[in-house]
Amino acid sequence: MNKEQFYSVVSREKVVQAVRAANGPGYLFFKDILQHKYEAICQCLAGRVQVHYAVKANPSPMVLEEISRLGLGADVASGGELQAVLDAGIPAEKIEFSGPGKRLEELQAAMEVGIGAINVESLSELKKILTLSRDRDRQARIGVRINPDMGKVKTGLKMAGNTQFGISEANLPEVFALIRDNANRLLFQGIHLHIGSQVLEASVIAENMRIALNSALKVEQDFGVTVGKINFGGGWGINYFENQAPLNLSQLSEFIGVVLKEPAYKGLVDRCKLIVEPGRFLVGECGLFFAGIVTLKQNGTLDFAVLDGGMNHNYLLAGGMGQVIRRNFEIDAICQGAEEDGETKTFTVVGPLCTPQDVLANNVELPEVLAEEDTVLFFNCGAYGASASPLQFLSHPQPCEEMID
Ligand code: LLP
Repeated sequence: MNKEQFYSVVSREKVVQAVRAANGPGYLFFKDILQHKYEAICQCLAGRVQVHYAVKANPSPMVLEEISRLGLGADVASGGELQAVLDAGIPAEKIEFSGPGKRLEELQAAMEVGIGAINVESLSELKKILTLSRDRDRQARIGVRINPDMGKVKTGLKMAGNTQFGISEANLPEVFALIRDNANRLLFQGIHLHIGSQVLEASVIAENMRIALNSALKVEQDFGVTVGKINFGGGWGINYFENQAPLNLSQLSEFIGVVLKEPAYKGLVDRCKLIVEPGRFLVGECGLFFAGIVTLKQNGTLDFAVLDGGMNHNYLLAGGMGQVIRRNFEIDAICQGAEEDGETKTFTVVGPLCTPQDVLANNVELPEVLAEEDTVLFFNCGAYGASASPLQFLSHPQPCEEMID
């Protein structure tokens, strides 16, 4: 979403007010945009697929509360995330737990509250669940996270194939043998796949759904189990940069409709609980990161704006978390001085950290009147922000987080 689109939903005046009222640097989350994104997903899925929120994208309690109010389920990746969504009031049966390294006490907590499914990612994990189930005399609802054999993965960030996630097809027989032999303890719910993140092509998302449905058919055929739920994972992308087109939702809706109507999948689609678990698509665009200008200075050929918040608060802006090239996010400045003449100047915007990596925007045009104590805003910062950043680096204060109605 570019800033004009953002301001067409939330007025710039409202943003300015919220920035002035907050104790920055930090994040502002706008409820209207979050809600609007959820509605867009629901429309796309036409009521046939349930939506779980991937908490790792933004575990802020304010966001989780809103997610809970809207009635979504949750994908959690740790005991901490599990506790946070329970605190936000999301019912246990609408929670699934995925992640390649679940600790014993996390598995135990998930079993104790009776979540919808622990999506098992290795034989060793399955054995631990079985042992816990015997020791505590408790059944466990489980899913199997499959890492499908696929050629080239078309996604921004690949999470299938030669990665640590899920169980590769070659290892499924022993996993299902253990499930079958312990069907009284391991209550098999269905399968889970998450192929990648930041997918902007509707056809790829639909194709990934087809891969999941084919896996479900194969699992039923090869191992004689009944698949009751299929979790297609997340991965729906957002357009951060000028050269990116947004995910085409009407196309996606049409493609998903086609896949789900295929005769080969009819039995599954009629009977299974179908789930998607996006994170970024739901919350990425509702969040702004803002920081104040501490110092303006010129060094060499560059004019620097040094902010009081940097990659310690928002690693994504500095190119963290798996990006190959750092690119500029949509940016705006709130100036105290008059901006009427519209004159701009080229700035390099940096954070306060003692590393040349702490560059938040390169060669950007900002008002010429920009002064110390003015504020710089960055758009599309609602996902993989604070919680995915090196918050402790240099012991600066933690970023504020505000939810704006
Ligand atoms: N489900 C599972 C099992 C996941 O591992 C993830 C994200 C999601 C759902 C949600 O994916 P989304 O809809 O947000 O794409 N910080 C990284 C992205 C990490 C994604 C991790 N897994 C980055 O921005 O490069």
